[in-house]
Amino acid sequence: MKSDLTRRHFLRTVSAGAAGLGLSAGVNSSARPSALTDEKPAMLGGKPVRTEPFPAWPVVQENDEKGWMEVLRSKDWCRAGDGHFTTKFEETWARTLGAKHCVVTSCGTTALYTSVNALGVGPGDEVILPPYTFVATLNVILMQHALPVFVDSDRETFQVDASKIEAKITSRTRCIMPVHLGGNPVNMDVVLDVAKKHKLPVIEDACQAHTGEWRRRRVSTLGDLGCFSFQASKNLNSGEGGAILTSDPAHHEFCKSFQDQGRGPAGAAFAYARQGSNLRMTEFQAALLLQQLTRVEEQSQVREQNARYLTSLLREIPGISPARMYQGTTRNGYHLYMLRYDKAQFANLPRARFLEALEKEGIPCAGGYSPLNKERFIKESIHSRVYRMMYSEREIAEWEERNACPENDKLCEEAVWFFQTMLLGPRRDMDDIADAVRKLQKHAGELTRLSS
Ligand SMILES: Cc1ncc(COP(=O)(O)O)c(C=O)c1O
Repeated sequence: MKSDLTRRHFLRTVSAGAAGLGLSAGVNSSARPSALTDEKPAMLGGKPVRTEPFPAWPVVQENDEKGWMEVLRSKDWCRAGDGHFTTKFEETWARTLGAKHCVVTSCGTTALYTSVNALGVGPGDEVILPPYTFVATLNVILMQHALPVFVDSDRETFQVDASKIEAKITSRTRCIMPVHLGGNPVNMDVVLDVAKKHKLPVIEDACQAHTGEWRRRRVSTLGDLGCFSFQASKNLNSGEGGAILTSDPAHHEFCKSFQDQGRGPAGAAFAYARQGSNLRMTEFQAALLLQQLTRVEEQSQVREQNARYLTSLLREIPGISPARMYQGTTRNGYHLYMLRYDKAQFANLPRARFLEALEKEGIPCAGGYSPLNKERFIKESIHSRVYRMMYSEREIAEWEERNACPENDKLCEEAVWFFQTMLLGPRRDMDDIADAVRKLQKHAGELTRLSS
């Protein structure tokens, strides 16, 4: 997470809030008329729309403590061989999603890292990914000394523009990595068609999309491998953690072995089937996930209802465009609530000032990612000695030009994020968000003058 939001600040933001343990009140309280928009913005000395914090995260209840203590007392904290809680969570998560197999890992990054290794991605290969994603999607490609090839974003959905993938495929393309960013599914019909036509495997980065669905199938189960993160901010979390879903027995065998130092299927302590690493999840993480999982469905339904209502309010505000969903989306996982902000409809109030003013109204928010394809460190990587051994001078020189993503550049300037926890409270919280935006629009001229 970059620009105006550090990872730590993000965690603090989603964790700050009411001390309640379960869900807040239902979402059925009726909409209220609002005179709040007439008030002066808090940034100009007025009263903020809200002072009450949004729901706290994570939710911790008695069952979480019990699960944790069970591992503590068992003294089996490490996943040795089969592992009790790790195996149980793998079976449960695979069944929940409708995949044949699940392999848990230490985090989402190591789930992706294991997956690219399962496909044999290596030096000389190209991997297709979106520029609007968390840096981990990119890092695992660079770790393999493969070339990242970015496909521009669809600004309306915040997802990769799948219609532009085919033009980026070359004889060196090794796989396609769509990312269901914010929980909003990518247009998987198009991704899977292109992948099939070019015989390319697909790794779905579903790290932010625990309950996302495409045509009634859970995301992560549509491609060859699908990856999740259970890092602290995620809708299903154990502080850190990851999982790979696959229905291919060969991928399953590889991933299971790779995350455990390449051990063979018999699980013997010193018998190895391949090169691997220690990317194992602990028994503590798995026990916590099993308990957190009991609330995921209910929490997701609350988020979805609130998000629907919030969209109905926000889309009436000129200059505010909530992220659209593709037609095949049967469920949005809502890790983020994303929208585009058009400053022309807000007296040219810069986005950074709009975000600051929203925060002052008591509405946590962020501007989200900056263009990943333009990160200086990528250039440093692909100009490094190792890359120069693998790729021609022309390939390296042309990389930047091939990877321009003009739509994504615009998206990164317009994006506004609200966090999943903000969708967990009562419906009136959504009214507060919309009231704050309306209020800022009404007073945008004054706010612009203040910031110039
Ligand atoms: C889209 C995406 N991919 C990958 C990751 C990496 O997951 P982790 O932080 O668990 O390593 C994240 C986590 O934020 C993510 O949002």
